[in-house]
Amino acid sequence: MRERLVISVAGKGGVGKTTISALLTRVITEMTKRSLLVVDADPVMNLPRALGVEVPLTVGDIASNLRKSIDEGSIGGAVTKQDILEGEIFESLVEGDKFDFLAMGRTEGEGCYCYVNRLLTQIIDTLSANYEITLLDMTAGLEHLSRRTNRNVDILIIVVDPSRAAYEAALRIRDLAKEVHIDFKKIIIIGNRFPQGMEQELESRLEEQSLTLIGMIPHDEELAKVNYLGTPLTELTPDSPALKAAEVIAEKLGLLSEVTLLKLLGTTE
Ligand SMILES: Nc1ncnc2c1ncn2[C@@H]1O[C@H](COP(=O)(O)OP(=O)(O)O)[C@@H](O)[C@H]1O
Ligand SMILES: [Mg+2]
Repeated sequence: MRERLVISVAGKGGVGKTTISALLTRVITEMTKRSLLVVDADPVMNLPRALGVEVPLTVGDIASNLRKSIDEGSIGGAVTKQDILEGEIFESLVEGDKFDFLAMGRTEGEGCYCYVNRLLTQIIDTLSANYEITLLDMTAGLEHLSRRTNRNVDILIIVVDPSRAAYEAALRIRDLAKEVHIDFKKIIIIGNRFPQGMEQELESRLEEQSLTLIGMIPHDEELAKVNYLGTPLTELTPDSPALKAAEVIAEKLGLLSEVTLLKLLGTTE
């Protein structure tokens, strides 16, 4: 099996994770033919609107239904919990022309239900094996991330805006990522909405922490308007500075050409 690329977008609340996930989705679908799974892993669930996707059922909904069935004792016989969960999650996958979409919704991680949550992680892993690229819009807490067993190439993008809190959150997320032992091939930073001329300053500050700045997304008036109106980012004109910046970042990440990706990761197939 070929390696699959799994990109997680993390950062403090409000720094632009959902916006950047939506911009990257647009760039990947417009400029490549790569199969793409987009996952909204934030229970706040802003990504469906940004992408113009309807989500009838979240993974969290399915998990709580399963929990109810377990409690009521209505699951038995030859069908395992895993079979049921897997079947339903495949059903909750929103299949689009350009990409598929899955929303995690709210999942509880407490008590004896950790079995269900472990299953969920496994199922996401199973799903992502079917796509060349999986893009996850995360929460700062990195829930839903776990060490994967299949041959995924994990990239962690941490978004920062020009605030001390966002920078400190980025360092915490980096440390957390190490603690959960995910084998990230790359941890990189995107600066969002920085005033012009601050790139050098951010870059050298990150360098002290051995973190790489891959690019900057400027504050974009048109994007702000689209977000305010609640229309999907597909409405952005090709002139949008944020969209153009996302394209440069996607290119640098090797999302637009396979050769760059292999070179970036130093792997040969
Ligand atoms: N580059 C940008 N230009 C204009 N507005 C932006 C930009 N990045 C984010 N925003 C706005 O900031 C708000 C928070 O962004 P969002 O992507 O939802 O953050 P997060 O997902 O990290 O919580 C949104 O209302 C969005 O419109
Ligand atoms: Mg968000």
